[in-house]
Amino acid sequence: MKIREIRLEDLDPVAFIKTQVQELKDTVGDGTAVVALSGGVDSSVVTMLGHRALGSRLKAYFIENGIMRTGEPQAIVAAFTRLGVRVQLVDARALFFRALKGITDPEEKREAITQTFYKTIFGPLVKRSGARFLLQGTNYTDVEETVAGIKRQHNVLAQLGIDTKKAYGYHVLEPVIQLRKTGVRMVGKALGLPKAIFERPPFPGPALAARVIGAVTPERVATVRAATRIVEEELARSGAFQYLAILHEDRVTGIRKGKREFGHQIEVRCWESTDAITGTPTHLSWPVLERLAKRITTEVKGVVSVTYNITAKPPSTIEAV
Ligand code: XMP
Repeated sequence: MKIREIRLEDLDPVAFIKTQVQELKDTVGDGTAVVALSGGVDSSVVTMLGHRALGSRLKAYFIENGIMRTGEPQAIVAAFTRLGVRVQLVDARALFFRALKGITDPEEKREAITQTFYKTIFGPLVKRSGARFLLQGTNYTDVEETVAGIKRQHNVLAQLGIDTKKAYGYHVLEPVIQLRKTGVRMVGKALGLPKAIFERPPFPGPALAARVIGAVTPERVATVRAATRIVEEELARSGAFQYLAILHEDRVTGIRKGKREFGHQIEVRCWESTDAITGTPTHLSWPVLERLAKRITTEVKGVVSVTYNITAKPPSTIEAV
């Protein structure tokens, strides 16, 4: 591997920021650059570095794919607006749902999302912008996992066989590629990002589509989104590594107001982990679990069953898809 890791003990966030900002200035010159902000730690840090280096010559886009959590796109755009960064919200919900239509296989789902993002939306958008540089939040772990063939998501352009320079006429710049997540979070803090962003728990690239087993439709995403909101509210203080809700494909018979209801099942997962490579379920208290069941079955339409995952990773994975 040619890229040299900067270990935590060697990381001086302020000096790192200074170096990266200068490098971006030198590379981009008087040109323009584009970034796709997702609100995750990596893309947020890269957006702030780009903003410091280039100001309004950095064009930041937030692609609304219809599979984010409640209010997430607006909240992220607003947070960056407060930091002085203009972010353009691109409404691509219809395109994503069209691409996902009829797909139930997990890998095909992920592939449809990746292709829609890069080929249908972001590629043409970058091309139209006339920018020659694209900032990406690839980190050191992504590189390792890509080399080891674990993740297909990262460095997707190269993995899709796209030479970005040839296809779109732009170069990819990856300012945090030498850092692991903890390092990226430290740089985020030093950049003045809000705690809610630099300490954000992990959230998958395929967003809520990774938590819908079976068909991903606007209605089914709305169900898992409502359950996710409750799980995040109830478990925010748990100190767990990650917590989530999954919508199952099978229905089960329930009873509500004395009437039979053939309804949905939500599975709650809450993880203890440091690196997401292995994990164990958090020993949540019975009252906490009961409260989750009560709220999800009363507040989320059509849900009659809530279960808690008690399986470790491996053989489980953190997400369901
Ligand atoms: P799994 O489900 O593989 O997840 O145990 C491990 C960690 O990675 C997150 N995850 C993703 N992150 N793109 C990402 O950026 C993805 O496609 C993706 N899939 C899973 C997951 O939330 C967990 O933290």
